[in-house]
Amino acid sequence: MTRRRIAVIFGGCSSEHEISVASARGVVAALRELGHDVVPVEIDRDGGWSLESGIVDELETAVADAPPLPARTTASRLPDRAVAGALADVDVVFPVLHGPFGEDGTVQGLLELAGVPYVGAGVAASALCMDKDLFKRVLRDQRIPVTRNITLRVGNPVANPFGYPVFVKPARLGSSVGISKAHDEAEFEAAVALAFTHDDKVLVEEFVDGIEIEVGVFGNRTPQASLVGEIVVTRAEWYDYDAKYDEGEMELIVPARITPEQAERAQAIAVQAFVASECEGMARVDLFIRADGEVLVNELNTIPGFTGTSVYAKLFEASGVAYAELLDGLVELALDRHERRSSLRY
Ligand SMILES: Nc1ncnc2c1ncn2[C@@H]1O[C@H](COP(=O)(O)OP(=O)(O)OP(=O)(O)O)[C@@H](O)[C@H]1O
Ligand SMILES: [Mg+2]
Repeated sequence: MTRRRIAVIFGGCSSEHEISVASARGVVAALRELGHDVVPVEIDRDGGWSLESGIVDELETAVADAPPLPARTTASRLPDRAVAGALADVDVVFPVLHGPFGEDGTVQGLLELAGVPYVGAGVAASALCMDKDLFKRVLRDQRIPVTRNITLRVGNPVANPFGYPVFVKPARLGSSVGISKAHDEAEFEAAVALAFTHDDKVLVEEFVDGIEIEVGVFGNRTPQASLVGEIVVTRAEWYDYDAKYDEGEMELIVPARITPEQAERAQAIAVQAFVASECEGMARVDLFIRADGEVLVNELNTIPGFTGTSVYAKLFEASGVAYAELLDGLVELALDRHERRSSLRY
């Protein structure tokens, strides 16, 4: 293993700030254990950057009760001299940021401008996959099966063409924040109003009755799929915020209880979705196996939850790749990509 100097950027001003802090704790600890020199860089909820490492060194992971934050209202900020100096002095940056202002191409754009190698999807793929509406259009163009939806913008007539129940989602968020399963018209109207408080673009999505599965993908030009994991929610009706982060509310079953043919198809479709959206490094693809056996892509996360016990890590662990090995591999993929792109003429 080559020893590297790595900046881990975490926190951020999305409602997934706390999740990012928990992911970063895991990533920082594992990279340090591997012998890398790690510089934690925090983005606070207002967008301010700092070299504060206190948060990731705390052992308690108080993720569960974090309420969703309102939309960011402060002016944008650039890293100050100390942070910029630290970022200029690393071999690679590992963005461990979930949601808007981190997973959506914004931080990636800053790092591209700065010429610093970074882990994971590039600018376009990050932005595309953050936007459930655009992402599904690209997949449909490649004939990759995705869940059916209509997209509403502010001022559009609010109508549900799919019957009930139906899912309503902000186009660009994660961790189930702002998502509702509506069972009737009154719930539907409330769901659309809620989703519009998080984004000015909202998806109304046909309810898929089936098994919820997730596949990890790792690689650049020849991406590999992990085993397929099945999400079993023990208390909630669907995989909502609490089911994601409260202890014991979700059981991940690896391999999923599906036929070998379905598993193979899910892995193939996950890799196709990764390639079609031009992802690099890593992604966790969320899919359904519908009651009739059809595999449908729900969405793709370019920076999935990343603690050692997060789904992405568990899927690869079950596939024979340990957490530390995964992180080390991602760092090397980032450097490979940077080197390849450095030789291009613009
Ligand atoms: N069309 C659908 N039919 C049935 N269930 C759905 C549908 N869309 C979403 N869900 C449920 O809602 C959950 C959250 O949806 P989705 O994965 O789109 O949101 P997210 O906030 O982007 O999630 P993540 O935390 O993975 O980024 C799913 O895991 C699933 O349980
Ligand atoms: Mg999801």
